[in-house]
Amino acid sequence: MKVLVIGSGGREHALVQKISKSPAVREVLAVPGNAGIGQQATCFNLKETDFPALVRLAADNRIDLTVVGPEVPLARGIADTFQSSGLKLFGPTARAARLESSKIFAKEFMKRHGIPTADFSVADTISRALQQVEKKGYPVAIKYDGLAAGKGVRVVWNRKEAVSFLEDIFERNIFGSPGPAVVIEEALTGEEVSYLIVTDTLSYHPLAPARDYKRIFDLDQGPNTGGMGAYSPAVLLEGETARFVQEEVVHRTLKALLREGIEYRGVLYFGLMLTKKGVSVLEYNVRFGDPETQVILPRLENDLVELMEATVAGRLKEIDLRWKQEKAVCVILASKGYPGPYQTGYAIRGLNKVEDVFVYHAGTKTSENGTIVTAGGRVLGLTGLGISFSEAREKVYRAAEVIEFSGKYFRQDIAGNLK
Ligand code: AMP
Ligand code: GLY
Repeated sequence: MKVLVIGSGGREHALVQKISKSPAVREVLAVPGNAGIGQQATCFNLKETDFPALVRLAADNRIDLTVVGPEVPLARGIADTFQSSGLKLFGPTARAARLESSKIFAKEFMKRHGIPTADFSVADTISRALQQVEKKGYPVAIKYDGLAAGKGVRVVWNRKEAVSFLEDIFERNIFGSPGPAVVIEEALTGEEVSYLIVTDTLSYHPLAPARDYKRIFDLDQGPNTGGMGAYSPAVLLEGETARFVQEEVVHRTLKALLREGIEYRGVLYFGLMLTKKGVSVLEYNVRFGDPETQVILPRLENDLVELMEATVAGRLKEIDLRWKQEKAVCVILASKGYPGPYQTGYAIRGLNKVEDVFVYHAGTKTSENGTIVTAGGRVLGLTGLGISFSEAREKVYRAAEVIEFSGKYFRQDIAGNLK
């Protein structure tokens, strides 16, 4: 088999590594990939949203299965385009991807079907938005309706912060689209869990729950990032909470998709907040999480390609998932300054000196003289497995000291409180 992976982050490197292990796979291609992905796959420098070029690449190379990492090509209909060209692709259609690409759609979908989520309202002008913000009272969450690379949500604590974010959205158009709208909802507090399933709409398998660390600094301080680390399994979903998530969140969502005639084949990611009052769905994502994938896939014993093919063919219920007992911890090495401005192009040293960890490349590239250099905010993800979280953590933090690049920054407290 030949598999094509779309994307360029740590998530996609983890996918490529796992896919390469499948005995059925002869070759992996990637678009656009990064320096690490390039060691295991042939990379093509095409745009993730240039569908005619991607279809041509897949057809010319007789690709058997295409796997999509990021949300943007899914939201723009890569699955629809591939399907209509007779090409197999793992990932939902544009219609199904609205669960992530429109917050308004997702919130109204949850409300229609009684899926637990915070109360909300919708506004399409700055003055209406501000009125509703003031009515709800502070703190309150303001969410840009469309895709915003993880930057579209802000919890604001006063009028000044609300006005500044609403002006970003409605006047400075920082997320681009004309005629924007926002969701305004109650700010929730609690522990967040990423609960991912793989589904063909008719049946599903939960992937091991993971915890993602979104803030840049230790103790969850500072601005949100794409994710600075993760661990799995997240031990939080037990007993009654686990049952509630299964019945009231997952089953309800899948039934709702069926009822609305939305076929869903791929990974569906529930961003959950465990509040004092119960579980609430913050968001849906229609893809694997990054960096959650870097702790989920190393623990998966199954052949990932077999799982994905069964999903695409609608025969997922024939598969049983098996997980390693070991715990997984991932720490992201980032460029100083991220998630704000940062410098790139620094040589990365020590990549061959680390042992017993998975090294997932994110923002890296091979320079003209052949050295691997930094090329993004999140540079590398290191994942360790261990019989305990503390063993996994020790492996990762040892490796994090061995790898060197100018401006290297990482959080010190990933999975810090776990045994
Ligand atoms: P979303 O894209 O909706 O998940 O939002 C991204 C992040 O914003 C979440 O992972 C939370 O950390 C935060 N967030 C979203 N909604 C809320 C909310 N209602 N209250 C507090 N934080 C939120
Ligand atoms: N780690 C959060 C996400 O992938 O959206």
